[in-house]
Amino acid sequence: SQEKIEELRKKNAEALKGGGEQRIASQHKKGKLTARERLSLLLDEGSFQELDRFVVHRSKQFGIDKEKYPGDGVVTGYGAIGGRLVYVFSQDFTVFGGSLSETHAEKICKIMDMAMKNGAPVIGLNDSGGARIQEGVNSLGGYADIFYRNTLASGVIPQISAVMGPCAGGAVYSPAITDFIFMVKKTSYMFVTGPNVVKTVTHENVSAEDLGGATAHSSKSGVAHFACGNEVDCLDRIKKLLSYIPQNCEEGPPLVEYEVRDEKRPGLDNIIPSHPNQPYDMREVIEEITDTHSFLEVHQDFAENIVVGFARLAGKSVGIVGNQPASLAGVLDINSSTKAARFVRFCDCFNIPLLVLVDVPGFLPGTDQEWNGIITNGAKLLYAFSEATVPRITVITRKAYGGAYDVMNSKHIGADLNFAWPSAEIAVMGPKGAAEIIFKKEIAASDNPEAKLEEKVADYSEQFANPYTAAERGFIDEVIMPHETREKLIRGFDMLENKVDKLPRKKHGNMPL
Ligand code: COA
Repeated sequence: SQEKIEELRKKNAEALKGGGEQRIASQHKKGKLTARERLSLLLDEGSFQELDRFVVHRSKQFGIDKEKYPGDGVVTGYGAIGGRLVYVFSQDFTVFGGSLSETHAEKICKIMDMAMKNGAPVIGLNDSGGARIQEGVNSLGGYADIFYRNTLASGVIPQISAVMGPCAGGAVYSPAITDFIFMVKKTSYMFVTGPNVVKTVTHENVSAEDLGGATAHSSKSGVAHFACGNEVDCLDRIKKLLSYIPQNCEEGPPLVEYEVRDEKRPGLDNIIPSHPNQPYDMREVIEEITDTHSFLEVHQDFAENIVVGFARLAGKSVGIVGNQPASLAGVLDINSSTKAARFVRFCDCFNIPLLVLVDVPGFLPGTDQEWNGIITNGAKLLYAFSEATVPRITVITRKAYGGAYDVMNSKHIGADLNFAWPSAEIAVMGPKGAAEIIFKKEIAASDNPEAKLEEKVADYSEQFANPYTAAERGFIDEVIMPHETREKLIRGFDMLENKVDKLPRKKHGNMPL
């Protein structure tokens, strides 16, 4: 009857108001959009299907039973991005500060379970004052239900978190387990304990933004993968990221149509400087090799001595890991190892082939690195590459020294195709260091030690600072001209398209964590 229809219309209108006009205005004043505005920017127009719009909390303590809002502080459902199914939850700060109650958590768990069953990504837009204080342990249980599902879903479906407001205390551990964290500069923060607690415990004076804002987490801690200028930019970048990745671990990444033509890139012949210690930007190599403007860098401001990100090669998604000679000469250290290891793991989970560009002088020496565990952390990258069964191609552009040669997707740890440029130097260490050690006595005994050293350096360089010794052993499959690199990679990844590789049967390995 008309009456019943009118009742539903009223209930819907009521739910869409969230915490009411005033709180919406206050949200806007902070430079933030509402939960629903965010979803309408994120999802294809008209695609959003909301679930659980009328769910309300069941608590009674502290008079909260007199205050109920349909939806209970989170908007959940499914929709499409670029025509592909996604599940979403978007916390509504206008309702109890987006705080997480038992029912709020149940709504999130419901869509996570559906996403797992139906094999599509989950995107969480976080904006919350944390556990619903009036609910106590019911709320904490709700968090744990989410963390547990985040963990089970890891490697099954892509999980993306955007932090678009507060995210403090236990709340941080859901994003932490997901694959990518986006933050918005100035309006979002994440920390285990906020500035007030920090002041009491460590006597440090620090603002929320400095302690856990987008800049801190994208450059210092590495917790955030993307620091965005504003919310619209953030939502756009989530959409872009999704365009490189498949819906679930059983599928391949989406293809963009591409017709192979003349794929030579003469610009690549001029990138390596004439002197081996001169830097260059590995991003220039990436730009030349990959489809025009297709490179999406991940973790751009963290551990800049390694570059990671997604790109396309003749329309196919690849994950790229490249040492960056323009920062710390491209050495591997703790942060660059963990950054790259996690990226490699993601690509391997989701069938995204790996391209590894190598110019690495070794591991970074020093007490700081040793005492903070470069051994364990460097091993993560070694482990991640060794375990990856996706197609893996390496190009050594210049240095590949020492243990870092082995780690950076060498033939020995299962890479499928290993190319080297003529400028490659594959050796235990740089020629000078090597000559100083193995010819120490001879140099010391010489009338002219400097000239002797120079002679020995030249000798060592001739024997090892080249790709041919490795190519003679078959450790390098082909020494290629830089300008043919793109062509070789397109053919190589085509050849590897149906690669099948299996790891030994086990419950799971024991990665050095
Ligand atoms: N539980 C219940 N209600 C909460 C809440 C929580 N955890 N966090 C915020 N709220 C409510 C506030 O009571 C307020 O309600 P109102 O609109 O009816 O006045 C509303 O959400 C907005 O909060 P407010 O403090 O006015 O917003 P703010 O932008 O000034 O500050 C926070 C945001 C998150 C910094 C602040 O609300 C806060 O410190 N919350 C508690 C965080 C916490 O310790 N959580 C528990 C541990 S996980």
